[in-house]
Amino acid sequence: GLSAPLAGIRALVTSGPTHEPIDPVRFIANRSSGRQGHAIAAALARRGATTLLVSGPTVEPDPAGVEVKHIETAEEMWAACRNGLPADVAVCAAAVADWRPALAAGEKIKKAKGKAPPAIALTENPDILAGLSAAGNGRPRLVIGFAAETEKLVENATAKRLAKGCDWILANDVSPGTGTFGGLDNLVHLVSAAGVEDWPRMSKQQVAEELADRIAAELKRAS
Ligand code: C5P
Repeated sequence: GLSAPLAGIRALVTSGPTHEPIDPVRFIANRSSGRQGHAIAAALARRGATTLLVSGPTVEPDPAGVEVKHIETAEEMWAACRNGLPADVAVCAAAVADWRPALAAGEKIKKAKGKAPPAIALTENPDILAGLSAAGNGRPRLVIGFAAETEKLVENATAKRLAKGCDWILANDVSPGTGTFGGLDNLVHLVSAAGVEDWPRMSKQQVAEELADRIAAELKRAS
């Protein structure tokens, strides 16, 4: 119907940063607020989608009508996403840490006089967007990612869409001064096989509404 264009649709959304432990009290993280991903999950749920939000640590409240799985690390996020399949649409808005400490120390790393600072060896995290895009039979019909870029925005996003194997990339300009990362507004370009659409600057809330409408139209068209 008009009020629930996504009724019967299962949606999976990732949001927020991940925390990668160095030891029991320290971690590597990033400045993602989770605002965009949470808004997308809320917008999909409002349109009737059965929505699972897999979220890293954030101060954003759990959106109404959304099942929320709280995780900390990229590996936990990937496991929760796999468990969340099957889904018709996946939106990867999380700022997943590219690397994690290869070995998280079991005890707090102690500082001592004369002791050299510890070296933290890093290892690569799973790429959740690429993993969902390559999920074979279990692949969501529509897989959407974000590309935060500071230069050659559309060029890099177009390459990223192909490299990740996803259907759409929302390219956003996170250059210093745009206030995008951690801010309220977003300036995005929708990159798909059909080409590039420039969206006007709008709030992350409005980006979520617009994207949810586009998802509903696409799933209807392709069904
Ligand atoms: O490679 P890059 O981090 O620039 O790609 C960004 C997109 O990939 C975002 O949609 C992000 O959620 C997703 N991503 C992911 N898992 C990773 C790294 C990025 O899902 N390990």
